[in-house]
Amino acid sequence: MQAIVYDTFGAPPELRSVPPPTPPPNGVVLAVHATGVCRSDWHGWKGHDPMIDPPHVPGHEVAGTIADVGSNVNRWSEGEPVTVPFVGGCGTCAQCRAGDPQVCPNQFQPGFSAWGSFAEYVMIDYADANLVRLPEELDAVTAASLGCRFATAFRAVVDQGHVRAGDWVAVHGCGGVGLSAVMIASAVGAQVVAVDISDDALSLALEVGAADTINAQNTPDVETAVRDHTRGGAHVSLDTLGSPETAHNSVSCLRKRGRHVQVGLLLGDEANSPLPMDRVVADELEIRGTHGIQAHRYSAIFDLIASNTVDPSTLIRRTIPLSDAGAALMQMDTDRPPGVTVVALGGSA
Ligand SMILES: NC(=O)c1ccc[n+]([C@@H]2O[C@H](COP(=O)([O-])OP(=O)(O)OC[C@H]3O[C@@H](n4cnc5c(N)ncnc54)[C@H](O)[C@@H]3O)[C@@H](O)[C@H]2O)c1
Ligand SMILES: [Zn+2]
Ligand SMILES: [Zn+2]
Repeated sequence: MQAIVYDTFGAPPELRSVPPPTPPPNGVVLAVHATGVCRSDWHGWKGHDPMIDPPHVPGHEVAGTIADVGSNVNRWSEGEPVTVPFVGGCGTCAQCRAGDPQVCPNQFQPGFSAWGSFAEYVMIDYADANLVRLPEELDAVTAASLGCRFATAFRAVVDQGHVRAGDWVAVHGCGGVGLSAVMIASAVGAQVVAVDISDDALSLALEVGAADTINAQNTPDVETAVRDHTRGGAHVSLDTLGSPETAHNSVSCLRKRGRHVQVGLLLGDEANSPLPMDRVVADELEIRGTHGIQAHRYSAIFDLIASNTVDPSTLIRRTIPLSDAGAALMQMDTDRPPGVTVVALGGSA
């Protein structure tokens, strides 16, 4: 099969012929129809993710059909159109049994703990616990974009942020995750202030429902600017970039008893970034992390899409062939093209 492979961290990812995967007893192999290009793939390629051991195939936002089924898989058969959350739980540990596979200690992550979906075929382990059947009306390209960024944003806003109608919400960083968060928070009735350093990203944020925008590059004091725009501070604020600065801004711009959700990754030296803990105590702020989403929450996402309240396809700005996926990853060194890029391999999920 054809796949995008890199041999060492930072080496140019190349389109190559490699042996196709076979399913382990609890897994399946998917024929990939579409796969999203996410900044977490870039983090992996740069060597920021200790799970990866090159040579490696990136890709974790996938839509496809089941091509082969492992001997212990009961719920799935060949030909079914599916997607999968990028963090898959083992299905048997205490976290999985409690309904929280997104923090499973034995988690399977395509494109991180195993070869990913920048390929014609990808193996997905723990299939019974994690595969999600796609509704017929959802096309493969849109479905692929849900797997990580949109689904992550849904959990961040709805399940971890508990955003409610009438809340003021600040979103720091309007890439794929942030724009999804803007769209979902607006859909549940919040007023969203979008923060970014790119005017293109901010105009997209307005298109998908932001009430107001702040360009952090021209704003010396983002905290005060958000407070002004939100009449005293955000009820909920999300760092959807993952940087010491945006994490700090996100906590600082909250009103009393507000809630910060950390979505963007802070890795390596940034993992111990300082936050204003004096404010956390005095104002009873809440700080929460969020990591992927459970397979069982996809039905809520599909309901939101079916009700026409959100349309994730409006975030997709580029559809590229598999042969261009390596270049798209390398481009992220210097560029943050607005919206979401999806690799289309053909076929319909
Ligand atoms: N927690 C999870 O489960 C999870 C899931 C998916 C992705 N992620 C992570 O979320 C992060 C965002 O991913 P993405 O694909 O949306 O990234 P992206 O690169 O597409 O978007 C980042 C955005 O932040 C903006 N930005 C840069 N500097 C800024 C600043 N100082 N203030 C405000 N905005 C600024 C950029 O212009 C860009 O629009 C990454 O760290 C990714 O790895 C986490
Ligand atoms: Zn588990
Ligand atoms: Zn991702």
